[in-house]
Amino acid sequence: MTNPATATRPTASGFELPDLPYPPDALEPHMSAETFSYHHDKHHQKYVDTLNGLISGTNLEGKSLEEIIAASKGDTDKAKLFNQAAQVWNHTFFWHSMSPTGGGKPDGPIADAIYRDFGSYDEFALAFKDVAAGQFGSGWAWLVADENDKLSVMNTHDADLPMAHGKRAILTLDVWEHAYYLDYQNKRPDYIASYLDHLVNWKFANANFGQAS
Ligand code: FE2
Repeated sequence: MTNPATATRPTASGFELPDLPYPPDALEPHMSAETFSYHHDKHHQKYVDTLNGLISGTNLEGKSLEEIIAASKGDTDKAKLFNQAAQVWNHTFFWHSMSPTGGGKPDGPIADAIYRDFGSYDEFALAFKDVAAGQFGSGWAWLVADENDKLSVMNTHDADLPMAHGKRAILTLDVWEHAYYLDYQNKRPDYIASYLDHLVNWKFANANFGQAS
């Protein structure tokens, strides 16, 4: 399975908002169609539109998201460009990190690697909940692999993402307030628990884990 986020390249007219990989009400009651109507249709669309405006007429026009992220990371003069490109990538990756048939314990190679690197699924879940709940303000929680396929969890601030730190994303959870406020209000821990128990897409995680670094 091709990673839908890393495969993202612009069309002749620029980047396009990717479709959700399921109907917008498919994750209810854990994530509502109303949330997707804002989060995907408005927020993700805005990141795409702003990115297209920023690269229009520059030497980054026609480049992939990954190339734009690599060209702008760590450069304060290009912070706005990095943020928009990263948020386009992050959101596409997030939609695929969830599934209507997701949640619960993993199977396949990722299950073995979680046991190897965290000790148990429960230890992984605790660690993931800690980084997701502990992210102060806007950001993302991730399951990532290093160049030796060793797994760990990490959080990133605002639009930042693992590829800017030499890590490969396996799964993510958006912990910006816009991701959960309509369904969970201020109860971020409940949102994190719903993601792990009912939504997390281990098939996608296995596909990402199986990709060469
Ligand atoms: Fe978001």
